[in-house]
Amino acid sequence: MGELGGRTALVTGGSRGIGRAVALRLATEGALVAVHYGGNEAAAAQTVAKITESGGRAFAVQARFGERGAVDRLFQGLTAGLADHDADGLDILVNNAGIHSTTSIGKLTEEEFEQLLAVNVSTPVFVVQRALPLLRDGGRIVNMGSAATRIANPLQIGYTMTKAALAALGPSLANELGRRGITVNTVEPGVVLTDMIAPYAAAREAVAGIESITALGRIGEPEDVADVVAFLAGPRGRWVTGQTIDVSGGTYLGPIPAE
Ligand SMILES: NC(=O)c1ccc[n+]([C@@H]2O[C@H](COP(=O)([O-])OP(=O)(O)OC[C@H]3O[C@@H](n4cnc5c(N)ncnc54)[C@H](OP(=O)(O)O)[C@@H]3O)[C@@H](O)[C@H]2O)c1
Repeated sequence: MGELGGRTALVTGGSRGIGRAVALRLATEGALVAVHYGGNEAAAAQTVAKITESGGRAFAVQARFGERGAVDRLFQGLTAGLADHDADGLDILVNNAGIHSTTSIGKLTEEEFEQLLAVNVSTPVFVVQRALPLLRDGGRIVNMGSAATRIANPLQIGYTMTKAALAALGPSLANELGRRGITVNTVEPGVVLTDMIAPYAAAREAVAGIESITALGRIGEPEDVADVVAFLAGPRGRWVTGQTIDVSGGTYLGPIPAE
């Protein structure tokens, strides 16, 4: 049994990309994982199958964030799935589901910005609120921010604002929950190869551009982020709370000296 044996975890957006890698990693450590998804049932089923085939425990939960009643549906599915696995209560919440935007200020519509706020900010806030009565003392909350918040990119203005808002949740929540031994942290990945950035990653020069401003010289893999989430979610992360942790391989730290 790994270091998360006997623990339960909810990973929002666990069906694909970074969330899938997090779900697999937490399950490998022994957690029973609720793999949430928005609409891609096949991807969620694939994540659950990968976990169970390697001896782990997981179940899928559907809820389309941004739709009325989504948080209720998420928690109905979560409690039913936990009960099916003779479990109750929650130890780890990873608020990972999110949507991207590459719209400049001149083209951003109210509808797009409202959807960004709904999925990337409002829903995680109310997921936390609903999770609190279930969350056991010593629990963990990890929110998925973005390193984009420290890189001025006019084409990510709406997205960046939502990720900055999510990161701002961390310290206050950490102070409120700390006496129960619950930690709250934000992880900020740089560019990670997932469906979210697939159109961008298809352009070789775009990838080369990111590599050229990244200290470690490559684009991130979902597992690079999942390992950090697993650290924060596990017993070794017990003394880290209220923090925002850059997980970008050192993207845009400053000029990289020529070899
Ligand atoms: N990839 C990057 O370069 C990068 C960098 C920094 C931060 N991030 C952040 O990391 C997180 C994961 O990104 P990713 O690259 O892994 O994304 P991804 O591959 O596009 O996967 C997104 C996940 O979120 C779920 N999701 C999306 N919209 C949803 C909605 N309205 N309701 C419910 N679920 C929804 C998807 O569910 P379905 O499978 O059902 O669609 C999927 O599981 C996001 O918060 C993103 O902002 C990503």
